[in-house]
Amino acid sequence: MVTNLVKNAAEAMGEVRSKKLEIRSKKEGEFVKLSVSDTGKGIAEEDRKRIFDPFFTTKGKGTGLGLAICQRIVEAHHGEIEVASEVGKGTTFVVKLPGK
Ligand SMILES: Nc1ncnc2c1ncn2[C@@H]1O[C@H](COP(=O)(O)OP(=O)(O)OP(=O)(O)O)[C@@H](O)[C@H]1O
Ligand SMILES: [Mg+2]
Repeated sequence: MVTNLVKNAAEAMGEVRSKKLEIRSKKEGEFVKLSVSDTGKGIAEEDRKRIFDPFFTTKGKGTGLGLAICQRIVEAHHGEIEVASEVGKGTTFVVKLPGK
């Protein structure tokens, strides 16, 4: 799951000048919160609701399965995955998982 998020982050920063990838984790009560942030091109508003759909891709050679699989892994662990993104600024995926 983390590999998929990091791969997406790296791909999103391919054409931007300032590249910064940040992976954070912290305990929040009963939960563990993991976030992967990038300073890439961001996700357009109209794409945001579709990125977790299987086979949705904006990449020439993408399968569009990375995030669909991430979401399934997170749900199998009774967690949640959320995205915040601004076009031209970057994207953060936050995964919240039960700690026990
Ligand atoms: N960090 C990100 N920054 C910008 N866009 C993203 C990011 N992560 C995902 N996306 C968008 O969500 C789409 C779906 O991502 P997903 O990982 O499911 O498939 P993919 O990356 O296109 O293909 P694959 O994972 O098979 O290489 C991407 O094509 C891209 O448009
Ligand atoms: Mg991907």
